[in-house]
Amino acid sequence: MNKTILITGGAGFIGSHLLHHFVKCYPNYQIINLDKLTYAANPTFIADLENFPNYTFEKVDLVDSGAVEELFHRYRIDNIIHLAAETHVDRSISGPMEFVMTNVVGSVNLLQAAKKFWLAKRCPGRFYHVSTDEVYGALGEEGSFNEESGYAPNSPYAASKASSDLFVRAYANTYGLPVVISNCSNNYGPNQHPEKLIPLVIRNICQGRPIPIYGKGNNVRDWLFVGDHVEAIDRIFHKGRRGQIYNIGAENEWRNIDLVRMLCSFMDQKLGQKEGRSQALISHVKDRLGHDERYSIDCRKIKEQLAWQAKTSFLRGLEKTIDWYLARGFTREEAVCEDQKSVLV
Ligand SMILES: NC(=O)c1ccc[n+]([C@@H]2O[C@H](COP(=O)([O-])OP(=O)(O)OC[C@H]3O[C@@H](n4cnc5c(N)ncnc54)[C@H](O)[C@@H]3O)[C@@H](O)[C@H]2O)c1
Repeated sequence: MNKTILITGGAGFIGSHLLHHFVKCYPNYQIINLDKLTYAANPTFIADLENFPNYTFEKVDLVDSGAVEELFHRYRIDNIIHLAAETHVDRSISGPMEFVMTNVVGSVNLLQAAKKFWLAKRCPGRFYHVSTDEVYGALGEEGSFNEESGYAPNSPYAASKASSDLFVRAYANTYGLPVVISNCSNNYGPNQHPEKLIPLVIRNICQGRPIPIYGKGNNVRDWLFVGDHVEAIDRIFHKGRRGQIYNIGAENEWRNIDLVRMLCSFMDQKLGQKEGRSQALISHVKDRLGHDERYSIDCRKIKEQLAWQAKTSFLRGLEKTIDWYLARGFTREEAVCEDQKSVLV
């Protein structure tokens, strides 16, 4: 069936992988990529999609409600997969307002446009909101979050995502908007911004810089390869039940310090250097304010109801990620330029 799908945040990390998947696997879908192109975007990763007749890019800020409505007019959008967001917890701590504007106001602008254009025409489309496990807050050593867990966000980022989830829920209950929400654990893979842990470690090793670890590094995260998340989004978009929430996780929990040590060892092998050289770069720094101790996702619902589960082993996923950055990203040449810059400054 033909669909016109608005994917927001398609120039970012997860959105760019999702676009490659949807544009190439579903040639009968018209895909509109709405993105403001903030510092987090990397349009070169999706540049080849410009050659596909079913793909269009629109540089739009979600906070601009008029521009968002204009897209609905122009393209007759009948489905939305909403990923655009400010996503870095540290930035949300130093500047929360940007997160309120994009993640809350921007999401409500999108809901308003969908309500205005869809409900008047009884459009049977879907408003799919992509969210995070961080909305549930932190766990101790035991237990996992399921779809019934209460919201207890601890960082301004998590609070802004929780708020957008609640608005999506309210638009479903109040106006009958056909929504679905997913809450996913930490992603990793090619094309992630180097402010995030795994690419940051790879970059700093390449450049011989210290690898900062918050506190003792005991915080636990569940790591999912981005390609597996894209498959989950596809499954939920096509088969998920209206009004439902699905948790997505990899059942792959690691303490930050153990993950970084493993990456160091991998990088020593890849760079052909003596084992232990990268680990020597590890530098413990003052802990992040309100740092959540542990996230863990119970993803039985999506496994049982939609027959999805993570397929990529952590070792394979990390290898693909490292190879991508070494081949296209953090080359030694870049390291030289960066170092020269810091000397000049
Ligand atoms: N990365 C993860 O580990 C993870 C895990 C679970 C859920 N999520 C969620 O998935 C979504 C995508 O995350 P990501 O890591 O790919 O993010 P990202 O930071 O890599 O990309 C975000 C994209 O949104 C765009 N954007 C930001 N503000 C905008 C605005 N006002 N208008 C239009 N576009 C704007 C940016 O230009 C960028 O291309 C987010 O909603 C995030 O909360 C991410």
